[in-house]
Amino acid sequence: MIKFAAGFLTALAALGLGGYLFLTSGGLPLETHHPPFPGEEWVANKALEVHLRGSSTKKPALNQSEFNLTEGAKVYAQNCAVCHGNRTGGIPIFARGMFPPPPQLLKDGSWAVGYPPGSVYKLIHGGIRLTGMPAFGESLSESELWQVTLMLVNADKLPVGALDFLASQ
Ligand code: HEC
Repeated sequence: MIKFAAGFLTALAALGLGGYLFLTSGGLPLETHHPPFPGEEWVANKALEVHLRGSSTKKPALNQSEFNLTEGAKVYAQNCAVCHGNRTGGIPIFARGMFPPPPQLLKDGSWAVGYPPGSVYKLIHGGIRLTGMPAFGESLSESELWQVTLMLVNADKLPVGALDFLASQ
């Protein structure tokens, strides 16, 4: 048993040392154009999936009135379009240079990602660590968080006032 524990600890130390040497020899490139590491996307997608568990049952605190959808478009144009683009296509400058690239949420004029409102709210409220997706829970009001959420999930049926805001970006 003592032999096994010693072997285990030696293997662990070797692994740690290997990782340290890999890191200090420049093995971990930080430039955003570098392709993902093996398994990196799988780990990121799994973590997101687990993070969103149960969030879909949270019900919106506002209704999807014309007013709320238009306000949501205003919030989006001011805070999100710079990374997530607008309805007319064209990848924004930020999105072209980021890793992971911000998904173009209104591509083809509809809600491109397809998450339910509760999950969208959770992501906007808390952000996504290590990706560039900011948390807006402290900078937008509760109403603004729900308004932009409702606008996104109803992107294919927006009133003219909302479309005007999105087109102005
Ligand atoms: C500085 C750039 C940036 C800004 C500004 C930004 N985001 Fe993001 N956002 C990202 C990135 C990068 C991701 C991808 C994260 C990932 O791959 O897990 C993301 C992911 C998301 C997702 C999840 C999409 C998916 O496919 O999983 C949603 C929803 C979202 N953002 C909504 C918003 C909203 C709404 C706003 C504005 C209130 C906003 N974001 C502002 C960079 C940004």
